[in-house]
Amino acid sequence: MRTALTRLLGIEHPIIQAPMAGGPTTPALAAAVSNAGGLGTLGAAYLAPDTLRRAIAAVRTLTDRPFGINLFVPETPGVTATAEQITRAQALLNPLRAELGLPPSPDMPPQADSFADQLAVVIAERVPVLSFTFGIPAREHLDALRAAGILTVGTATTVAEGVALARAGVDAVVGQGSEAGGHRGTFVPDAAYAERALVGTLALIPQLVDVVRVPVIAAGGIGDGRGLLAALALGAAGAQMGTAFLACPESGAHPQHKATVLAAADTDTMITRAFSGRSARGIVNHFIEALRVYEAEVAPFPAQNALTRDIRQAAARVDRGEYLSLWAGQAARLATARPASEVVRATVEQAERLLRQLGEMEEQGV
Ligand SMILES: Cc1cc2nc3c(=O)[nH]c(=O)nc-3n(C[C@H](O)[C@H](O)[C@H](O)COP(=O)(O)O)c2cc1C
Repeated sequence: MRTALTRLLGIEHPIIQAPMAGGPTTPALAAAVSNAGGLGTLGAAYLAPDTLRRAIAAVRTLTDRPFGINLFVPETPGVTATAEQITRAQALLNPLRAELGLPPSPDMPPQADSFADQLAVVIAERVPVLSFTFGIPAREHLDALRAAGILTVGTATTVAEGVALARAGVDAVVGQGSEAGGHRGTFVPDAAYAERALVGTLALIPQLVDVVRVPVIAAGGIGDGRGLLAALALGAAGAQMGTAFLACPESGAHPQHKATVLAAADTDTMITRAFSGRSARGIVNHFIEALRVYEAEVAPFPAQNALTRDIRQAAARVDRGEYLSLWAGQAARLATARPASEVVRATVEQAERLLRQLGEMEEQGV
């Protein structure tokens, strides 16, 4: 299954293990996928520059194959939450804090991660691939990446976003369908647009492929070889799979997160702003339910993310999945607890088997 993507990235199979910031994508997971012939990716958005440097070194001790780093592009101009928004968001979160025995309205933790500093590490370390979401980096940043020989992959949730990324000169575009777990990559700063930017993978990919020249990578709801082959049939040059790798032994997802994903039904996820202030798909739990009717009142990203950190960290310590952000996509039922190399191998084998069967059907005139 050689495609424009396998040639571009120098990998064997057209499978990218999705970046999953916040813990799931450990160096061990990314390296296992790269060693299995896919592209492992570290979700590094929340990592301070020094931690990012160490994580890159850790991947390099485990694999000599290509791998990716993923960052969040900050909005320009940046959105700062107003004092009223913070006060309101704290008031909404305090009852949940009380349930966990936490003090009310803690001080906001300082904003730790700077995109420019993270990018400087990526460039200095000459990582093979940088993927990003939430926007398009400034031209000078893209130029610096190109000059360092780093391939860039942007995230689009609509055709217009894909066109904008391709115009900016990225090497490949991830088309993120609405089935996808985790944050929506939508970056057109218009709330009404964002609501309509929930295009399913099956609809998004062929429309993107029709207008974007660079390789398109399908993401969202792809959990096995059936999804991979379907993505290729839609014109994608590969698939980016997140939820399918969440419960692997190499994943650093919280045990409660893994268990919930493995038990999830297709109807168990929804899109919420409650955890971070940005729309993201996760498994519905008490935290989401409690803030459901107040979604419009939470603080904007990244302030809300900082405000909910004490709750998520406390919940992780005491194994209370009801208060964790259990990001997962609509195909969670397809996730398994197999090692990552097995997920890659089984996905490729199934896709190749299906392709052969389809070929035989054609020969038989079915
Ligand atoms: C737990 C989790 C965390 C995620 N974090 C990121 C991230 O840091 N950066 C990013 O570009 N995408 C992130 N995503 C989205 C993935 O890149 C991808 O779009 C998604 O996993 C594809 O859908 P699937 O989960 O159905 O495979 C995340 C997804 C999940 C499930």
